[in-house]
Amino acid sequence: MALQLGDEAPNFTAETTEGTIDFHKWIDGGWAVLFSHPKDFTPVCTTELGRVAALKPEFDKRGVKVIGLSVDPLGSHAEWAKDIKETQGHALNFPLIGDGDRKVSNLYGMIHPNANDTLTVRSVFVIGPDKKIKLTLTYPASTGRNFDELLRVIDSLQLTAKHKVATPVDWQQGGDVIIVPSVSDEDAKKQFPGGWKTLKPYLRVVQQPK
Ligand code: BEZ
Repeated sequence: MALQLGDEAPNFTAETTEGTIDFHKWIDGGWAVLFSHPKDFTPVCTTELGRVAALKPEFDKRGVKVIGLSVDPLGSHAEWAKDIKETQGHALNFPLIGDGDRKVSNLYGMIHPNANDTLTVRSVFVIGPDKKIKLTLTYPASTGRNFDELLRVIDSLQLTAKHKVATPVDWQQGGDVIIVPSVSDEDAKKQFPGGWKTLKPYLRVVQQPK
């Protein structure tokens, strides 16, 4: 069965461009993003990996480690890295798994045979400090992902983990948030002494906690 939200992210050992890793040890109690791309030396993937390299400081700021994967071998990743730097202006600054035997791809369901029976699709797994899967995304090979959106989701996930709030549609950092229904008004008074706006008993809007 496909991995679902709340499942533990399966552990594995893998060869990466930055050496051999044990995934759970590599996560090291923090947040992590594991994402696959279909193939080295392809146009959309080249732009995606350059963008992730450019955004690395943003992932670092949030305490999130990033790791990529494709079924291409490590030697190919190393050669392709030169093109990423040349064309995207950012050198790879995070590890890429060489998953030639598809061990990790199969473990995480990253190969969708009815789309392509040999290449990985564009999968994303956001994993929390408890090693549980917090978000999954699957894009087809022809559509590059929006990694700013991924950072926005991580901001929401981290806010929810720290405070008992959820984020509304199109929420951006600094925008109002929602008190989750499981928090009673009585408890909300303690948590949000500045008050909140009740639009409906189930829809209580409050300033984003600091
Ligand atoms: C791409 O990254 O451009 C790509 C990769 C695999 C299939 C199609 C497009």
